[in-house]
Amino acid sequence: MKLDWVGPEGCKQIKQELGVTPEQAEQFLCGRRSIRTFKEKTVPRNVLEKLLEVACSAPSAKNQQPWHWTVVEDPAQVRRLAGMVADWMRMVIQTDPEAAEERGFKRVMAAWDNGNERICRGAPHIIVAHADKNWPFSTEDCTLAISLLDLYATSMGLGACWGGYFYKTVNAYPPLFEALGLPSDHLAFGAIMVGYPKFRYQHIPPRNPIRVTWK
Ligand SMILES: Cc1cc2nc3c(=O)[nH]c(=O)nc-3n(C[C@H](O)[C@H](O)[C@H](O)COP(=O)(O)O)c2cc1C
Repeated sequence: MKLDWVGPEGCKQIKQELGVTPEQAEQFLCGRRSIRTFKEKTVPRNVLEKLLEVACSAPSAKNQQPWHWTVVEDPAQVRRLAGMVADWMRMVIQTDPEAAEERGFKRVMAAWDNGNERICRGAPHIIVAHADKNWPFSTEDCTLAISLLDLYATSMGLGACWGGYFYKTVNAYPPLFEALGLPSDHLAFGAIMVGYPKFRYQHIPPRNPIRVTWK
């Protein structure tokens, strides 16, 4: 489709010679894995910025690009915020043990008490995608952007892992929401831990069989 609001000079040229083969794409896409063990090494800001730049090229409903990013750059702050998630989990375990069991909080806190941090996995950084809570497509748009970030991080030799416990707690626990300084009309729609992986995977595990109905 022709874009009449921007000329070719306003766009990046596609380098046709950089195209990937289906075989390369399949290995790259299927070989992406969640990384949960990180080196004690921070990622330079310009690299984190590059991740965000690529993430922001995700498709979005009505091309609204609703995502905003909060990057927790300081590993000590990541630890502090993970501690707040742990505080919340402890509170839920006390007040609603059934929900805590169902959401896996008891397991996470048992690990925490044994020095095994399963909330931010010892990652040096966590990136939160947040957006207008009233925009109907914030969930889909932020998820797609984080997914691109995840894949691009893999291509850069970085490791990433979705922080499901983290961003759900951002929305449920006001002290964490405030600690991140998110605007009051926003919600967190995803979070991803980022760092340098300690280990490299050698295999691609099988997924469930395809569930499809052909009509
Ligand atoms: C929405 C979402 C939330 C997730 N939350 C967590 C999390 O809090 N902690 C974690 O270790 N992994 C989390 N994951 C990673 C999944 O466990 C992982 O993608 C799945 O087990 C498949 O493994 P793979 O990513 O290595 O292929 C999350 C993934 C998604 C998509």
